[in-house]
Amino acid sequence: MSEKQNAQNNSEHSIVAKNWWKEGVVYQIYPRSFKDSNGDGIGDLQGIISKLDYIQSLGVDIVWLNPIFASPNDDNGYDVSDYCAIMPEFGTMNDFDLLLSGLHERNIKLVIDGVFNHSSDEHIWFKESRSSRTNKYRNYYHWWPAEKGKPHHRFSFFDENNDAWKYDELTDAYYLHYFSAKQPDLNWENPQLRQEIYKIMRFWLDKGVDGFRLDVISFISKDVSFPPIPEIYNNDFPRYYANGPHLHQYLQEMNKEVFSNYNCMTVGECVAVDINDALQFVDSESKALNMFFHFDSVDYGYKKNEFKQPDPNGWKLTGFKEIFSKWNDVFADNGWGSIYLGNHDQPRMVSRWGNDSPEYREASSKMLLTFLLTMRSTPYIYMGDEIGMRNIRFNAIEDYRDIDTLKNYHQIKNTNGDVDYFMEGQKATARDNARTPFQWNEKEHAGFTDGEPWIKLNPDWEFVNAALQETMEDSVLNYFRKILKLRKQFPELIYGKYELLEKENEEVYAYTRILNDEKILVVLNFSKTNAPFSIPENIGLPGEVLINNLKEIIFHKSVIELLPYQAAVIRLL
Ligand code: GLC
Ligand code: CA
Repeated sequence: MSEKQNAQNNSEHSIVAKNWWKEGVVYQIYPRSFKDSNGDGIGDLQGIISKLDYIQSLGVDIVWLNPIFASPNDDNGYDVSDYCAIMPEFGTMNDFDLLLSGLHERNIKLVIDGVFNHSSDEHIWFKESRSSRTNKYRNYYHWWPAEKGKPHHRFSFFDENNDAWKYDELTDAYYLHYFSAKQPDLNWENPQLRQEIYKIMRFWLDKGVDGFRLDVISFISKDVSFPPIPEIYNNDFPRYYANGPHLHQYLQEMNKEVFSNYNCMTVGECVAVDINDALQFVDSESKALNMFFHFDSVDYGYKKNEFKQPDPNGWKLTGFKEIFSKWNDVFADNGWGSIYLGNHDQPRMVSRWGNDSPEYREASSKMLLTFLLTMRSTPYIYMGDEIGMRNIRFNAIEDYRDIDTLKNYHQIKNTNGDVDYFMEGQKATARDNARTPFQWNEKEHAGFTDGEPWIKLNPDWEFVNAALQETMEDSVLNYFRKILKLRKQFPELIYGKYELLEKENEEVYAYTRILNDEKILVVLNFSKTNAPFSIPENIGLPGEVLINNLKEIIFHKSVIELLPYQAAVIRLL
């Protein structure tokens, strides 16, 4: 077989069923920090509505909104007290309807955040459930009667004592909370509870929303005998939590009862799910979810067994490539992936994977956006990354708002741990790095609010803001629009087969995307030094440079002399 035929066979092999959610680009909005419309310092739905034209101008197809439901905000909306009401700080149901129709008029779909592993302790279900052992909502949550003794340990992410069982005097029992004590876990083993959740999902889908991002969905099923964690999990609690006995049954039921009846998309937040289990969640047979977020990349370069401390040895590009290549391969023939480098739970993309110094912030932001938009997975872009926003790196604990940072801080302090070391680490890893307000312009508070913002702005807003970038042809913002258009224009960037080149190269990440006779080469210099890259001979030069993030691109025959953080997308002829 000739090489060309071979390539063709391979690439045809990789064509999967087409879907809008495979072709779309997702823009994630953290409503609290996007745009405040009424001067209370908190972003809101009317604020988003006032920026619809901006969102449309990006060219994105789908907006994912972090939770907007009624909530006491112990964890910024991830503690829902009423799933069918809007958080008053964010606005009204009428505002929501306006936002939805405003997006739809612009041909943009809306995906909302389904937080169904747990509710708020202020949800009526929990209030009832708590009130007596015989209440009809008792089994909506996980209770352990105290006369049976203390239940076996379960780890909690947001509890100062790491204890997921909270004793409640009222009925002399413990309840389970994987996150904070104000986020009790819902009991999915109860079919009635599941039906209630499906009803809520239908309520929003009937309104016209286009899908759900499903918060920590891998944790919903529990072995309700609550045995000691089996040794095979080696105290890796998240892995144990993600292997509940009926997880796949519930996901499939949810799909059958709800999602299969709508033209909608689902993306699960699948903490602790690895490549071996991946297809069970998303392949065409299992009919569960469309996509999910894995954690291999965002957990890479953090110290093991220590909560969110950056590894002083950093991370390596070869390791980074290995993760993304491995996840690409899982979905090469079946299922579909998602790709992201930042979100509301992660530090800023450019600070973590690029270089946010004044010299390289723009180039490396563009390079990372090139990566996200040329991989074979649905790209999720977190608000602010399209203008290259950076980590804030708070010095004082008083500046932090996030329960995650605050809880760890108090825990370390109370146990006489090394607080300074922790605070230093938070500058690199804290979630609040990505939660500072969006920087619209050079005015006070970056045009985010007329009042006092709920969290400090990054003081760099005078030179990192959207208005300024609108006026500059070569800004990160305008580059984002261009690279996004390119993805639309060349289907090989969406569906084409991905092939990694020079696996061992520690500076350059290079790969091809091939569909039928079309072949595109992507080269990304992840380093701050010059890095020559030799285009393999058999690959089909000459080529046409479709986009390049710097002013010039230097070729010496088949060698590209990549400059620091240079990215180029080349169509091979
Ligand atoms: C998810 C959310 C995060 C939240 C947690 C608990 O990881 O993305 O923000 O704190 O779930 O709901
Ligand atoms: Ca507001």
